[in-house]
Amino acid sequence: MAIRNIREIGDKVLYKTSKEVKDADKKLLVLIDDMLETMYEAEGVGLAAPQVGILKRVVVIDVSEEGNDPLVLINPVIVETEGEQTGDEGCLSVPGKVGTVTRPNYVKVKAYDKNMKEFTVEGTELLARALNHEIDHLDGKLYVDRVIGGLRSVTDRGM
Ligand code: NI
Repeated sequence: MAIRNIREIGDKVLYKTSKEVKDADKKLLVLIDDMLETMYEAEGVGLAAPQVGILKRVVVIDVSEEGNDPLVLINPVIVETEGEQTGDEGCLSVPGKVGTVTRPNYVKVKAYDKNMKEFTVEGTELLARALNHEIDHLDGKLYVDRVIGGLRSVTDRGM
């Protein structure tokens, strides 16, 4: 495994639409391992492939306190949302900043695992926020464009 360079706001790759993954080959599995290591090293709760410069629809998330419950999503699609939550959000590609964003409070996501087997994940609160945030990355969208009232400076975990 290796730590990859996290692209930051302003980098063109962050504004592009990522491509669907056709099969989980060796190269993709290495990418997933590297994304997990990079996310944990940066103390983030989520990371999307374009954040390490790869335009593939791959996301890793871990919202557990201990950071030992990784969720890997290939070709994730939001199939259901419910409710609303408004709270602070950060991003590993926008270091040192947070902003208030309104997101659905519940999402159901369909995705593929590392064996390209389809599965469904449901999340509320932070997991719902992370799922929305990371899937946005795959469509070239950053949370900064959804912020209410501007960005604030802090030292905090990002997505
Ligand atoms: Ni992010």
